Amino acid sequence: MKKPDSPQYYHDYLQLDKILNSQKLLSKELGESAHEEMLFIIIHQIYELWFKQILYELDSIIDAFDRKKVRESHIGISTSRLDRIIEIQKILIDQIQVLETMTPMDFLDFRDLLIPASGFQSVQFRLLENKLGLEESSRYAYEGSSYKSYITDEHKKLIEEVEKAPSLFELVEKWLERTPFLEFKDFNFWKQYRIAVSIMLNSDRKHIKENDRLSKKEKNVHLQAYEKTESMFDALFDEDKYKELVDNKERRLSYSATKAALLILLYRDRPILHNPYKLLSRLVDMDELLTTWRYRHALMVTRMIGRKIGTGGSTGFSYLKETAERHRVFEDIAHLTTFLIPRSALPQLPDNILRNLGFYYNER
Ligand code: HEM
Repeated sequence: MKKPDSPQYYHDYLQLDKILNSQKLLSKELGESAHEEMLFIIIHQIYELWFKQILYELDSIIDAFDRKKVRESHIGISTSRLDRIIEIQKILIDQIQVLETMTPMDFLDFRDLLIPASGFQSVQFRLLENKLGLEESSRYAYEGSSYKSYITDEHKKLIEEVEKAPSLFELVEKWLERTPFLEFKDFNFWKQYRIAVSIMLNSDRKHIKENDRLSKKEKNVHLQAYEKTESMFDALFDEDKYKELVDNKERRLSYSATKAALLILLYRDRPILHNPYKLLSRLVDMDELLTTWRYRHALMVTRMIGRKIGTGGSTGFSYLKETAERHRVFEDIAHLTTFLIPRSALPQLPDNILRNLGFYYNER
């Protein structure tokens, strides 16, 4: 690599003049300086810088998956980058505590000056949601209007471009769909797994029926609850039923991607499946941490403004609580644990399949 022409100076290299001169207190400009406004501005700027880093990592992961051939090395690198995103997310959650050193009364000193600005208009946050794969149709919209009607046309255009591009969810789904190790000439994993599940479910049922500590009424309650688990397995074994769930928006991940992800989860101990397993786990971790941030932010908001409406005009806490509950992207992968069975009951993969598994992540 070429060396720079002149020696670097710390302050200039980091462009600190720009960054450190970017905190303009509106309260001061208007003649009544509110001490806490400095913290308020700096913390939002720090968030936006971390969002930038997260988007930078996410773009490289999307790029690695946006191709027909996802190499083993891409999976490893993407997992490490997801690890980094996850560590940043932990900081994002922790730093809410710093903001909470500002009391609600302190906030009231300048809150009204901000109207109608709000984190609700954070473009980078919306890009993040969209790049991950949060769909417009699954969003909770207050007053029925999209978040896009609260941002400038220029920002709206930027977001709409990202909406059109494949999201990480879609790319991971396609990658899973391409893994063709569910059926081989002489071994049908799905058939073997179904037999193992049926043995497990029958045995669980028997345990409930034979449990002397339960009354007849209690047994019926347990058995009814158990039927729900069984019906979930039914939908897993019946493609039409599963597709009905997708049509009703109860599931999102396609049938074949679900089967492939489940196989990865079940045989995660196999060296060749370990990296794909780690990747799927990190996606779930990232999704959960975003939800944790949403809840944590919502709690901080109730503490700060009670049940008042937000500066952006939403219902405040109740809006944020809805988004925390609904805005999940990789939830289907998290829920696959429903279908795990004990290692001892797992169908044994024939040797030739184990030997060949390494090739299946390469292009067919
Ligand atoms: C005193 C501190 C804060 C208060 C009282 C507050 C309040 C709110 C409220 C009420 C909303 C809902 C929209 C609205 O009506 O405005 C919101 C949304 C949001 N805020 Fe904050 N916020 C605070 C700090 C932060 C910080 C530090 C960030 C970091 C970037 C942030 C990011 C967001 C984001 C991304 C949304 C959109 C969430 C969504 O639509 O799911 N907020 N905030």
